Amino acid sequence: MRPMRRNRAAAVGPVPGDGGAPPALELAAVTKTYGEQPPVRALRGVSLTVRKGELMAIVGPSGSGKTTLLHVMGTLERPTTGAVRIDGVDVDSLDDRGLSALRARSIGFVFQQFFLAEHSTVLDNVADGLLYAGVEVRERRRRATEALARVGLEQRASSRPTQMSGGQRQRVAIARALVGRPAIVLADEPTGNLDSATGASIIELLHELNAEGATIVVITHDAELAARLPRQVHVRDGLITSDSTRTGDGETGRIPTRVETRS
Ligand SMILES: Nc1ncnc2c1ncn2[C@@H]1O[C@H](COP(=O)(O)OP(=O)(O)O)[C@@H](O)[C@H]1O
Ligand SMILES: [Mg+2]
Repeated sequence: MRPMRRNRAAAVGPVPGDGGAPPALELAAVTKTYGEQPPVRALRGVSLTVRKGELMAIVGPSGSGKTTLLHVMGTLERPTTGAVRIDGVDVDSLDDRGLSALRARSIGFVFQQFFLAEHSTVLDNVADGLLYAGVEVRERRRRATEALARVGLEQRASSRPTQMSGGQRQRVAIARALVGRPAIVLADEPTGNLDSATGASIIELLHELNAEGATIVVITHDAELAARLPRQVHVRDGLITSDSTRTGDGETGRIPTRVETRS
């Protein structure tokens, strides 16, 4: 048994659907250093567990290491030291090809700039979320239709992104992230390009999708947005400075960012 394994007795609160399954994501003492002269220590020892079914925010000011953290969590970059596990799989055990396959299967991304293909239909934009999952085109489109229904855009399948509002485009991007039913969805400033009312509707959508079972991590510099999610992890200077959780009745509790295993 590896020492990073979470001490179950120390887990706080019931986690629906947890039932002994591995966490969606685990970081253990992750560091990330860029360059050498001088080295930039973007992450300086981050340990974090995201359990299945969580909806949480990672919040911190500009330069605190949020994007680096997103890249490491999303396996877009490897950590300099420390361990990353996605759905129980140690990233370090995979070569780049294995890593791409894991990413395609297990991680959905949502970005501030949407990143939709403007000349493809909404349906194909969503279906493309399954391109690397080895699913044939008819099945891709069938699942994309379902995912569009989940974000309330089933009527817009044949539209082009250019015919849609910012909020609608972000819904399409969210449908694309969800279509492969990934272990975890990572959203980087998903409301950053939206007015506040539209941003609020996107946050509401994330709550709904989470209630249906999606595990979602929102990265943001916006403390007000973060406060609307059930758990907030604050980062500063490449370190987690606090990790809070709120139970169903609004009570605020704290969960340890790292659990020492003792007998
Ligand atoms: N590719 C990179 N090369 C060198 N330094 C980087 C690189 N990416 C990020 N950094 C540095 O790492 C620190 C954290 O950056 P970042 O993760 O982008 O923070 P945030 O997203 O919170 O603004 C900053 O000092 C930034 O300049
Ligand atoms: Mg950033």
